[in-house]
Amino acid sequence: MIRTEGLSKRFGDNLAVSGLDLHVARGEVFAFLGPNGAGKTTTVRLLAALVAPTAGRAWVNGYETGQDDKNVRRSLGILTEAPGLYERLNAVQNLTLYARLYEVEDVASQIEKYLRLLGLWSRRDEAVGGFSKGMKQRLAIARALLHEPPLLFLDEPTAALDPEAARRVRDFIGEVKGEGRTIFLCTHNLDEADRLADRVGVIKQKLIQVDSPANLRRSLYGRRVVIQLGSVTQPVRVAVSELSFVKDVQQIDNTLTISLDNPEEQNPVLVERIVAAGGAVQFVHELHHSLEDVYFSLIEESEQEKGP
Ligand SMILES: Nc1ncnc2c1ncn2[C@@H]1O[C@H](COP(=O)(O)OP(=O)(O)OP(=O)(O)O)[C@@H](O)[C@H]1O
Ligand SMILES: [Mg+2]
Repeated sequence: MIRTEGLSKRFGDNLAVSGLDLHVARGEVFAFLGPNGAGKTTTVRLLAALVAPTAGRAWVNGYETGQDDKNVRRSLGILTEAPGLYERLNAVQNLTLYARLYEVEDVASQIEKYLRLLGLWSRRDEAVGGFSKGMKQRLAIARALLHEPPLLFLDEPTAALDPEAARRVRDFIGEVKGEGRTIFLCTHNLDEADRLADRVGVIKQKLIQVDSPANLRRSLYGRRVVIQLGSVTQPVRVAVSELSFVKDVQQIDNTLTISLDNPEEQNPVLVERIVAAGGAVQFVHELHHSLEDVYFSLIEESEQEKGP
């Protein structure tokens, strides 16, 4: 659905996006993470054919940006960081203007469908200037979907929304995904990315890493199991360290954190040995790293590589 080759954008001396090689499959939710100024919005603007690259190429839905921009734009809906709406017009009028621009055929029914889906139908006749931020955000999402694009760009869709409004938008993203649409999501909410995304890409001018949240965790931290005991005795420590599959053991009070490759197969053996050594096993669980841990590790690594 999205493919780029060496996609780059320079603003004067400032290289905003550098040599981006990206592939996003149809039906995928792809979350784009990176610090402020990392080039996320610029990438979205490049892919939506709103700005031209200074180097490299991009294809959206099979159409190349800069070559076939009309088809590129028809293929996508976009929620920008600051969705411009006509404040004096009501919700229906706002959407109608946009629907005409995109040559939507069944304007009235499409507008009703999305205003209902986003919970704005009862407010459809009110001037948008009086809408709350969350309502405007939802209206802008409705606008992005009116022409039923297969690809949706959402640039920080839940930023500045209250928890309930943010959850509504997240649920909606899940529904849209269920329809088989591809979603390219820029967010600073790492938990949101973790919950919604099939894969995440971390960018800082360059693409630092792309993978599923689970694979990123594993590649960075390996797998670890945390075992809490009544007490950690010397025989227990010996029994654990004698197991060949145990790669590392850390002890804090009565808890052992053990690195191993295949907990599904190795945990039963591990627990059996601990029990045989007289250990009273109270809890066993896998150590779970948040996507936030992963994110900071990746950003830190990329800074060390670059040097001071
Ligand atoms: N129109 C522009 N003119 C000049 N510089 C720009 C322009 N748009 C973006 N930039 C620069 O490009 C870099 C990347 O900006 P971009 O908006 O893509 O970052 P971002 O990852 O979306 O950040 P944020 O998380 O703050 O939204 C920044 O250094 C920014 O100043
Ligand atoms: Mg941005």
